[in-house]
Amino acid sequence: MVKDLQERINRLKKENDVCILAHSYMSEEVCEVADFTGDSYALAVKAKSVPQKTVVMCGVRFMAETVKMLSPDKKVILSNPDAGCPMAEQFDKEIIEEVKKLYPDYAVVAYINTTAQLKTVADVCVTSSSAVKICKALDSKNILFIPDINLGNYVESQVPEKNFKLLSGGCPTHAKMEKREVLAAKAVHPDALFLVHPECTGEVCALADYIGSTSGIMDFAEKSDKKEFIIGTENSIVEHLQYRCPDKKFYPLSKDLVCHNMKLTTLHDVLHCIDGTGGEEIILDEELRKAAVKPIEKMIALGG
Ligand code: 13P
Ligand code: SF4
Repeated sequence: MVKDLQERINRLKKENDVCILAHSYMSEEVCEVADFTGDSYALAVKAKSVPQKTVVMCGVRFMAETVKMLSPDKKVILSNPDAGCPMAEQFDKEIIEEVKKLYPDYAVVAYINTTAQLKTVADVCVTSSSAVKICKALDSKNILFIPDINLGNYVESQVPEKNFKLLSGGCPTHAKMEKREVLAAKAVHPDALFLVHPECTGEVCALADYIGSTSGIMDFAEKSDKKEFIIGTENSIVEHLQYRCPDKKFYPLSKDLVCHNMKLTTLHDVLHCIDGTGGEEIILDEELRKAAVKPIEKMIALGG
């Protein structure tokens, strides 16, 4: 059944000139039909160069909006219209404009997990894999980092030469992981390395052997000589790694490390995006798009 669906999707995407992009948090079966999979940064860079006229973004809304901003002439479809990132909605533009008045000489650095509206008040966007590099490269010595306090804290620790102001947003899935869960997992798997996403708290990250993006974690585990790993990010990464490295063992930090929004997209959703009966076409007001794409373009220019 899964194979049948995948074959239909693969046939139809060629016939209809569709490119499928999938974030690393998609299920293995969705990643298998994608033309390209990766972390948020890799997907943003890829979005600029895909040759097809239509792009189906399997992920959450801000990712599909990013594709549309970078490729305005393409038809961009979000795989499941209900898939949003709760963090992206935590602050609205008006609040950030008020905060900016308090810190007029601070550059606004926005995690890409933000709405298009919020991006219009940002000087530059960052992703988990590019944030340190971009904050280092930025002209400004003062950085107002929005909205993720955990990623902000991590970046601040890596860029001590700059002054940071942080807001108290964050990912509900990653932020709820606790130090005691890491200690318990390490006690059960004493030989395992602990790999973690910087959206987790400082206390959790302090116990990590590696801190990085979804792709960073997968690359690290694949290249490592070690055989066991505790994975401190969304549990789909545990599944992907187990396929990629069948001789190694991967343990989720917690069975609660699940992003329900990322879990919404099914193979049927992907099929319906391609046959024109499902998904949601992303439509952005042109003024909004032009303003919101600027910090993303700057991210790509500084991120390389
Ligand atoms: P990456 O940039 O590591 O892909 O992370 C995206 C995300 O939403 C993590 O929760
Ligand atoms: Fe947003 Fe967290 Fe889900 Fe990533 S894991 S999409 S940050 S809610």
